[in-house]
Amino acid sequence: MAKDVIIACDFSSAKDTFDFLDKFQDEKPFVKIGMELFYAEGPEIVRELKRMGHKIFLDLKIHDIPNTAKKTMSVLSGLDIDMTNVHAAGTVNMMKAALEGLTRPDGTRPLLIAVTQLTSTDEETMKKDLLIDKTMEVVVTHYAMNAERAGLDGVVCSPKEASYVHDLCGDSFLTVTPGVRFADGDTGDQKRVMTPAEAAKNGSDYIVVGRPITEAADPVAAYRRCVREFLNQGESNG
Ligand code: C5P
Repeated sequence: MAKDVIIACDFSSAKDTFDFLDKFQDEKPFVKIGMELFYAEGPEIVRELKRMGHKIFLDLKIHDIPNTAKKTMSVLSGLDIDMTNVHAAGTVNMMKAALEGLTRPDGTRPLLIAVTQLTSTDEETMKKDLLIDKTMEVVVTHYAMNAERAGLDGVVCSPKEASYVHDLCGDSFLTVTPGVRFADGDTGDQKRVMTPAEAAKNGSDYIVVGRPITEAADPVAAYRRCVREFLNQGESNG
């Protein structure tokens, strides 16, 4: 299983994104393009980053009726992305439809993963705002099992949940985990956080890291620290 660090490029323009990525001379990080950048720049930003040699996780978190999800995914399958996602809350039928739409006529497709609960949500908020009266573990594992039933490749979850998702859905079912912070960093609006090393120990396959890298004084050094801590499982040397 390839483990990697994905940088969340949460910028509002292509220029800011290229200025940021230009700092990386010796490596081509796996990047995540989210709604902000995609809505600002459209599919051309994806094509350009691909031309530059980056792997791309297109994080659009599709959540709609099955027919719309399917048609949206078939448009996205025309872009040479490596990974994209839907909300598991959209139901098993919607996830199946999305997978169908994403599959190209030759049978190939990018990885498709499902968002379980956003890492900015905690149990109290889930109870109060969403009227979900279950533990986070029950909700996340239920959504993960739904995603597996629908044929998806994995889920987006907190690194805290990666181990029990693997216990239930197997080692090859991917866990893509945002909510990663350095031990000495700010948590910001994220509530269910772990360090890169803890995420690795807990079975995360890919960690998605935004602000700890993009807002660092030296983003390349922060990225390298992240890779080192994640791949070496905790040998943090600053
Ligand atoms: O800056 P930070 O490291 O918090 O960025 C995390 C990224 O992961 C953001 O782009 C956010 O949209 C995304 N994400 C998340 N929680 C999820 C799914 C995606 O934080 N459950």
